Amino acid sequence: MKKVPLSRVFVNDEVREAGIRAMNSGWYILAKECEAFEAELAAYVGTKEAVLCSSWTAGALMLHHAMGLCPGDEILVPSHTAFPSIEPMIHRGARPVFIDIDETYCIDVDLLEASMTSRTVGILPVHLYGHPANMDGIFLAAKKHGLWVVEDCAQAFGAQYRGQRVGSIAGAGAFSFFPSKNLTVMGDGGCITTSDSALAGKLRMLRDHGRKSKYVHDFVGYNFRFNEIQAAVGRVELRNIDNLNEHRRGVAARYNDRLEGVVRTPPERPWARAVYHMYVIRTERRDALAEFLKGKGIGTGIHYPVPNHQQPAIMKLYSNLPRLPKTEVAVSEILSLPIYGDLPMEDVDYVCDAVLEFFGKK
Ligand SMILES: Cc1ncc(COP(=O)(O)O)c(C=O)c1O
Repeated sequence: MKKVPLSRVFVNDEVREAGIRAMNSGWYILAKECEAFEAELAAYVGTKEAVLCSSWTAGALMLHHAMGLCPGDEILVPSHTAFPSIEPMIHRGARPVFIDIDETYCIDVDLLEASMTSRTVGILPVHLYGHPANMDGIFLAAKKHGLWVVEDCAQAFGAQYRGQRVGSIAGAGAFSFFPSKNLTVMGDGGCITTSDSALAGKLRMLRDHGRKSKYVHDFVGYNFRFNEIQAAVGRVELRNIDNLNEHRRGVAARYNDRLEGVVRTPPERPWARAVYHMYVIRTERRDALAEFLKGKGIGTGIHYPVPNHQQPAIMKLYSNLPRLPKTEVAVSEILSLPIYGDLPMEDVDYVCDAVLEFFGKK
């Protein structure tokens, strides 16, 4: 039977050779490949700085640390996102204040002001599924109330908001290079992008035990460093990212074309250039469809079945959690179809044929 996985990492000979070259160099951590990758990432995203680290979660934790996030602080964040979006702030003692989603599955900017209190310090929008959040609406609310904004770009490497790359729009952006993501490094990894060089300098120290020189520690930090082999590989992936993202957009266009009217297809706002980390459809018959597709060798996913305001870990921590009607309906209807940077179009058609067959449209 044909197999179509939900996602797949892009690997070619150049990627393999880069990894082997780095392996043979004798340098393994934070050396020349990492320096070059940081410069190339910053140039691509459009910031002065990119600081590599061991994951999005590690990056966000040290970013919250560097920004002075304190116990009792509140941050507005969508509930409908990967659980790690909220873990670092909780480790700092801050509280996520969960906001419902708009039609693009990103934070609903019309609900921000009503959720603010005297303890609100920032907003963490998530460019979910590779579609940028409504940044104008977010900045409007943030400026009015003196809040910082940090972008969760984990799923959106290369996406643009009004022609500007995500990760360069707010004070800082956090990326993940986990193997399912658009830009990958053959393992865990991430980076923080910012044009604040003082902040970047502090992050570089935090990721390496709070030091600049080998045996002098200016503050207590972490080991969130990055590796040469992964940087070498990531540099090749970065050179291919525009083609890979463009292909994802082509896959999304084909799905839209063939599935429109049969299932709810994902919207793309006129100001957005989405990179379709996920291609998420909606149907009330989601579970039966997923089972049917599985029978045809087609991988699917649910991103995410349990919203964060209803996670056991969160319900143990906080009382008076909100009801978020749009999120709570969405999680029972969403289904992610296969998409990746070199997914063959014939496989996309195979998936479309199967979806149409399930709904008796073929
Ligand atoms: C939206 C979002 N934020 C944060 C993360 C965490 O990334 P990492 O696994 O690199 O820590 C992920 C990845 O799962 C994600 O999808």
